[in-house]
Amino acid sequence: RCQSTSTDEKRNKSRNVLDNASNLLTNFLSGGSIGSMPVAEGAVSDLFGKPLFFSLYDWFIQHGSVYKLAFGPKAFVVVSDPIVARYILRENAFSYDKGVLADILEPIMGKGLIPADLETWKQRRRVIAPGFHTLYLEAMVRMFANCSERSISKLEKLLEAKHSQGEHEIELDLEAEFSNLALDIIGLGVFNYDFGSVTKESPVIKAVYGTLFEAEHRSTFYIPYWKFPLARWLVPRQRKFANDLKVINDCLDGLIKNAKDTRQETDVEKLQQRDYKNLKDASLLRFLVDMRGVDVDDRQLRDDLMTMLIAGHETTAAVLTWAVFLLAQHPDKMKKAQAEIDAVISEDGITLESLKKLEYVRLIISESLRLYPQPPLLIRRSLKSDVLPGGYNGDKDGYQIPSGTDIFISIYNLHRSPYYWENPNEFEPERFLVQRDNNNIEGWAGFDPSRSPGALYPNEVVSDFAFLPFGGGPRRCVGDQFALMESTIALAMILQKFDVELKGSPESVELVTGATIHTKNGLLCKLKNRSRVHEGVEFR
Ligand code: HEM
Repeated sequence: RCQSTSTDEKRNKSRNVLDNASNLLTNFLSGGSIGSMPVAEGAVSDLFGKPLFFSLYDWFIQHGSVYKLAFGPKAFVVVSDPIVARYILRENAFSYDKGVLADILEPIMGKGLIPADLETWKQRRRVIAPGFHTLYLEAMVRMFANCSERSISKLEKLLEAKHSQGEHEIELDLEAEFSNLALDIIGLGVFNYDFGSVTKESPVIKAVYGTLFEAEHRSTFYIPYWKFPLARWLVPRQRKFANDLKVINDCLDGLIKNAKDTRQETDVEKLQQRDYKNLKDASLLRFLVDMRGVDVDDRQLRDDLMTMLIAGHETTAAVLTWAVFLLAQHPDKMKKAQAEIDAVISEDGITLESLKKLEYVRLIISESLRLYPQPPLLIRRSLKSDVLPGGYNGDKDGYQIPSGTDIFISIYNLHRSPYYWENPNEFEPERFLVQRDNNNIEGWAGFDPSRSPGALYPNEVVSDFAFLPFGGGPRRCVGDQFALMESTIALAMILQKFDVELKGSPESVELVTGATIHTKNGLLCKLKNRSRVHEGVEFR
């Protein structure tokens, strides 16, 4: 009898386990056990023809801020709610990893911060983040200005040549110019290497663009074809990719060797107090190599540098591209920015102090990141089953998700959500100056600039995760201040010299996405020297 009881118990127990598992599965497939998650049925055609994040927006308006997107057997949960985003990114961050994104990026970035496993990430984040200290950023301000100056003199020369033919404007693809500028800046800032791409072409530059192209292709392709064992030898593009990677890796290996050969070991505090004004090499690589007690192997260091090269290049180029795209459609706002720039930047050039006074230009950068976030989607995969909190426009009870659930947090949807923004699709840099209480939204703290005193740019803290251009929580961007200062300086210096117009209509500028949102055929613009009449224009 005793035995039969325990057999019954065991049977019941295992039946419960099975029931629970099958409930979880059925609930997930049918829409969540706590409340019922709406389902959007994606057609394969939705993946082509237009960027996926446009369709995700339409379904967000239709199905609410947490829904399941089913593509045949594959399903994703799409999140467009600040409370749920805050939970996944910050409150329960370590129950999620980068999922599909890590699969795509690992062959390029190895164990760099973005795809790294948790253990490696913890070690390297602790070492890399202190490298972006104040004196480093101050030294970078000068470098940003010097590099922008190089781009400007190139454009001035092109204009001069036109003047001699009696014409006063040039036509060019500004997206390509911004891409070169951002590449030069990231090379110098991260490993003190001057790509010089504003003025020349080189095998290393070609290899960087080739690698970015492949990373982009992979992030829009849904079968990991590069994992097939013979792909590297059979598919010509894969061979080219392998060669491009080798060119960059050889270049980085050389720089690492050089930095290690000239290593001057010291501790973090002393490194952060170095005389950055007079340093020949103020790069992050120098900091990482010289840090006492961190004997990192060359492979890890190379993965770190490669990650920052890729993470910091196209993202910043894209911010500048969309800022100009938006300003060109709002000449009044371009003039307002130019009036501020004229009042703030002296003939001696831009400094950290002047950057602090360029409030309107800074807000333009933030507003461009709101409308065109880079990347538009954050990708996560749950490491265990979890219960997502209820969102504003979803079921208030929240949803249970099984382990292994793939999640897209749509920054694009959050940044254009009609529930959190007035005129969400309009370009209004001034919006960040106004506090919004939104007391009616349970669980969301609203928008309050005073929540982040001293911050030069609005961030996810101010908006309680309704505005998160650099993500949030422990995996937040390490290069945010670098990127924001770089784009503010480059934009201010260009607007100081030139008036910009789009060559065609705004509608003719088609969007494409991989990791970032960029144009299909470049940002074709007309550029001319500025006419400096701005009397009566206020910029506050
Ligand atoms: C992470 C955006 C520039 C290095 C991220 C994330 C976002 C982001 C949204 C979070 C990704 C996630 O949670 O999945 C941007 C934007 C930039 C920019 C919009 C330019 C405007 C830079 C620069 C660097 C950089 C200049 C380096 C110099 C990184 C790294 C991570 C990261 C290393 C991974 C952090 C971690 O997982 O610990 N970035 N980024 N980014 N970014 Fe940036």
